[in-house]
Amino acid sequence: MTYKYKYFIANWKMFGDFSSFKIINLVNNYINKIKSKKSRIIFCVPSTLISYFSNRLKKSNIFIGAQNCHYLDEYGSHTGSINSKMIKSAGAKYVILGHSENRIEGDTDNLINNKIKSAIKNNLVVIFCIGETLNQKKQNLTNKILSMQIDKGLRLVKSLNKIIVSYEPVWSIGTGKIPTHKELNNAVSFIKYKLNKKFNNKHSVKIIYGGSVNVKNIGELITIQGINGFLIGGASQSAKKFIDILKNCYK
Ligand code: 13P
Repeated sequence: MTYKYKYFIANWKMFGDFSSFKIINLVNNYINKIKSKKSRIIFCVPSTLISYFSNRLKKSNIFIGAQNCHYLDEYGSHTGSINSKMIKSAGAKYVILGHSENRIEGDTDNLINNKIKSAIKNNLVVIFCIGETLNQKKQNLTNKILSMQIDKGLRLVKSLNKIIVSYEPVWSIGTGKIPTHKELNNAVSFIKYKLNKKFNNKHSVKIIYGGSVNVKNIGELITIQGINGFLIGGASQSAKKFIDILKNCYK
C-alpha cells in the first residue's frame, strides 16, 4: 500500500534544551510555506522537552515523540524512569523503541516487547527500530536478525496500526555509510514480507529507514520502493540540514 504522506522523524537523541525550539520553529515555517500535505513531521526529543514543545506546537502540523519509555504503565518505584502514560500525558504522540543505542545499553527483545505493548495500550504510535550489526551483515544474517527482532519485539502485538517499523542497520548509524540500493530494497522487501505473513496481510505496513540520512543521499533513498519515510539523527539537529532534506524530497 502506498501512503498518503512520508514520515520525516527527527531523533534528537541526547540533544537539545528549551532554546532548541528555534530549530523546530524554522522547520514549521518552512512546511507552512510549502503547504505540503505529503509529509508527516515528528520530532522525538528528550523527555525534558516533550511538554513544553508539545504545548507550543498545538496548532501546528508537527508532532512530538519520545525516545524510550519504561515497560510498566503504572506508577512505581523506578527511579529516573518515565512510562508511556506519562509520556502521553506530556503531549507526545509517538515513541521510539528498540533503538540500537538502547539495545546496546541493555534493552533486550523481551523488554522492548513489553515497552511496545505498554506504549500501544497508552495510545502512542511506536517507531520500532530493528537492524543488523556489521558483523551480522558480513555473515549474511541480516534477514535472520530482522525476522527474530520482529518476532520477539512484536510478540502478542495484535495489530500494526500503531507500529512504524524503522530499518536501521547498526553499522549505518552516525557513520555516513548507507546500504546500497539493492541491500535496502532487499531489507525493506523482506520486512514487508515478514510483517504481512505475521499479521496475515490484515494491516498496512509502514516501514521507514534510518542511518546517516543526509541531504546528499536523500535523493537516492527516496527512490527506494516501499519506504514510507526516514528516521533522521544527526541531520535533524540542524534546521538547515533538516529543511534541505525536505527540499530534496519535494523539489
Ligand atoms: P544518524 O542519522 O545520526 O546516523 O542517526 C540515525 C539514528 O540513529 C536515527 O534513529
